[in-house]
Amino acid sequence: MRSLHVAYCAVCELHTMTKSDPRYHRVLVWDFPTRVFHWLLVAATSVAFITGSILPQWWLGVHRGAGYVIVGLLVFRFVWAAFGSEFSRLTNFVYSPSETLDHLRGILLLSPRHYLGHNPAGAAMIFALAFVLCGLVVTGLLTEAGEEKIGPLAGITSYAVGHTAKTIHAILVGILAVMIAAHVAGVIAESLLTRENLVASMITGRKALPERAHLPAPRPPRWRAASASCVVVIGVGALTLALLGRLPPKGVPAAAVNAAYARECGACHSAFHPSLLPAASWQKMLGTLDQHFGEDASLPAPVLAEIAEFLATHAAEAWDTEIGIRFRTVTANGPPQITATPAWLRKHAPLPEAWFARKSVGSKSNCSACHRDAASGRFDDSKIFVPKE
Ligand code: HEC
Ligand code: HEC
Repeated sequence: MRSLHVAYCAVCELHTMTKSDPRYHRVLVWDFPTRVFHWLLVAATSVAFITGSILPQWWLGVHRGAGYVIVGLLVFRFVWAAFGSEFSRLTNFVYSPSETLDHLRGILLLSPRHYLGHNPAGAAMIFALAFVLCGLVVTGLLTEAGEEKIGPLAGITSYAVGHTAKTIHAILVGILAVMIAAHVAGVIAESLLTRENLVASMITGRKALPERAHLPAPRPPRWRAASASCVVVIGVGALTLALLGRLPPKGVPAAAVNAAYARECGACHSAFHPSLLPAASWQKMLGTLDQHFGEDASLPAPVLAEIAEFLATHAAEAWDTEIGIRFRTVTANGPPQITATPAWLRKHAPLPEAWFARKSVGSKSNCSACHRDAASGRFDDSKIFVPKE
């Protein structure tokens, strides 16, 4: 490995020199693309963090956008690690464990060695950050695909995978927050110890070097190889995701509408989405339509048969969606009623009774009064609007 690990001081001259000392010379360490990458990553990660954990759920679109920006930035940085200028190259900041330990010991003894490029602690942090950020974008894509059935991976991701991915995503966010705090603390500590403003050098790209320090000729960036690689990787990646995105969402039956069902069972109330009850409950209900919540909702045999078949094939068990999975569980011997399922009660029991009595709601079963997407069976949090009266 070619090394430009410029560790140029035992008893460092920088410690004894003042900034105006003519023996200083400033060399370009962080090339322009690396600096832009660094600060864009700071911005995109902050936006993702704020929209994902502080702002309400309808910011998820922005959160998703920030995730895609991070994907693009990571692709660029991996390419730049191969073709960038000297100090951006991977081979410039791969250190042995013993070197890393030496450096950490130096920090503890308050006299770390100077490194012109990434020092061993910083390099370890970069690998860990890259790993966690990759984990975050992958689990983010899997969460939206599995749980919400949207995004490029929706066709190949089950609800269970999405649900697990969501848990891992949350854990990684915690780890990332700790790592960012450690990174910032490390930068401040090293800046103080080495009297080198590391934040400023990530803006100007330059670092001070004692004139005596020997600097081997740094490798220049290979622009053409870098841009060609970025185009290829992003092009192939985007094409793959676009093709995958054309697959129908996994576990979402295609035609979930039936004219007879919509007409007959939407006559007195809006037709409930079939995924809101398991097949056995629908069957039980259809067997007692003459005494349907105090109404006679009986149907001619052929129509009843068609509706029965539609509900049997589109009941909760047929769906790999959040609703289908949660609402397929019913209380043993409980009434075949959506508003009696544990899933419904868990979400609505804490709400004030008065909300359901409001004029434009009228009843607990008037789902679409509060859920604008009730007809699609999605029941997205961002589509809940409880009428004021
Ligand atoms: C003649 C009018 C009428 C027709 C037709 C009708 N229903 Fe109902 N349905 C009602 C009434 C009234 C309620 C009770 C509503 C309430 O409690 O707010 C009800 C309640 C329900 C509920 C329970 C909602 C809850 O609170 O969990 C389901 C499910 C349901 N109906 C399904 C159907 C299906 C399936 C059909 C078609 C086979 C159908 N209904 C046809 C009048 C009707
Ligand atoms: C008075 C308005 C109102 C009515 C009517 C209503 N809901 Fe809700 N629903 C809410 C509110 C508010 C929440 C959010 C509760 C929370 O998260 O604390 C909610 C949450 C939900 C959720 C969970 C959404 C999620 O992603 O966490 C589901 C599913 C749901 N409702 C289904 C239904 C169904 C099915 C019906 C009809 C049988 C219905 N709701 C009727 C107000 C209503």
